[in-house]
Amino acid sequence: MAWRDLRALIDGLGSGVRRVSERFSPRFEIAAALREARADAPALLFDSVEGYPGWRVYGNLIANRQRLAQAFETTPDRLAETYLQRRQQGIDPVGATQVPVKDVVVTHDDDLTGLLPILTHHELDAAPYITTGVVLCSEPGTGRRGMGIHRMQVHGPRRLGLFLANPPLTLFHAAAEARGEPLEVAIALGLEPAIVVASVCKVGPLVPDKMAIAGALRGEPVPLIRAETVDVMVPARAEIVIEGRVLPGVRQHEGPFGENTGAYFSNESAVIEVTAVTHRREPLYPGLTPWAADVDMLLWLAAGTEMLRQLREHVAGVADLEIASGTAGFSMVIAVSGSSRSEVRRLIQLALAFDKRLKSVTVVDDDVDIRNPREVAWAMATRHRPAHDTIIIAGTDAYVIDPSASGAGQGSKIGFDATRGEGSGAEKARLEPAALAKARALLGELMI
Ligand SMILES: Cc1cc2nc3c(=O)[nH]c(=O)nc-3n(C[C@H](O)[C@H](O)[C@H](O)COP(=O)(O)O)c2cc1C
Repeated sequence: MAWRDLRALIDGLGSGVRRVSERFSPRFEIAAALREARADAPALLFDSVEGYPGWRVYGNLIANRQRLAQAFETTPDRLAETYLQRRQQGIDPVGATQVPVKDVVVTHDDDLTGLLPILTHHELDAAPYITTGVVLCSEPGTGRRGMGIHRMQVHGPRRLGLFLANPPLTLFHAAAEARGEPLEVAIALGLEPAIVVASVCKVGPLVPDKMAIAGALRGEPVPLIRAETVDVMVPARAEIVIEGRVLPGVRQHEGPFGENTGAYFSNESAVIEVTAVTHRREPLYPGLTPWAADVDMLLWLAAGTEMLRQLREHVAGVADLEIASGTAGFSMVIAVSGSSRSEVRRLIQLALAFDKRLKSVTVVDDDVDIRNPREVAWAMATRHRPAHDTIIIAGTDAYVIDPSASGAGQGSKIGFDATRGEGSGAEKARLEPAALAKARALLGELMI
């Protein structure tokens, strides 16, 4: 089971959330605090948002395994298994009986930025950006649900730029455009983590609907309600929903925007014309900041654990997997137990092929802590032999937001075997266990 309500989760975090009473501006200040907060800091809840009385902004909510595990009512060491197990059997959404997201319905011509505290994140960002909007739509004809996080630039009072790089929304939009029709969408903001994680997971044939995966992750169906002005079902307990239509045949320059890569990226993107906004009373606006710890955890749970499951099915000895922090999923470390050099080679090739985002993978033995960059660097320094243990794959597809591939669309990938292999690789110099326990007790006391 998971927390079935964002507000209950935040209330239940206790010292895991810090309420900020000092006034912070949605222009630069909140994003700066959220990115500087990093994984060890508590979640932040800004109670006083400059220019937006009655609104609050939260972030850093799932920035570490401890809080992410709390959100799914499990422990950090059980988190990956819990996620993988729950998502195997979908739970279909149901019609909602209570609809807090429609406490306030705004269909008149208000300026979006006058209504919502949409954050401006980086110095050179072109405008305020919605970074954690779950874009929902329904495929005309089949009714198949589209659901994914897509960045959105505020272009004007009722106009948003929509960056479409991933299916199914790219496909639904292309199909609507081919018929010369707009695509109706609803953007849900301020959702419990189960729905956010499901929105960016890989779907398979067993459970093709991400909303059913969200239900499975939370242990209960997600209650949905039809939006006011478009034919799209939205989570009834979302904090905010923006409704609109993606205009056919329209593109507008969108960006620059500091992406999850930590670099700016611009695009000629689709455009949404907004038709309505609905929200809860005293709403919470989600402040997910690009290149911040929240993104690392989201990618790890929704993409990393799935990759771990797939690799385990194909290669013996795969123990664990981590996405390197701040790399937007471009770089991974995998731990193996007792795998031969040839198995590690196959593992590297498989991993690089599975995920189009992945550019570099490092494989280490399971005596190396893959969540500690110092230990991974140690394995590279002492166990990796560059001339023998490096695999380079050229001529692959580049992921669109990778700045090193700029425009050309051609990428390449690299894998490092940093395991001991058969033979006499470096033996890790360990501390004597009893002495280590005594030292940790002392250091724990000193930290208080
Ligand atoms: C924080 C975050 C931001 C994202 N922003 C975008 C985006 O702006 N445009 C896009 O096409 N995909 C974006 N994605 C990815 C899609 O939401 C996601 O990959 C997709 O829905 C997963 O389904 P797929 O693997 O079937 O494509 C983002 C993912 C995350 C975690």
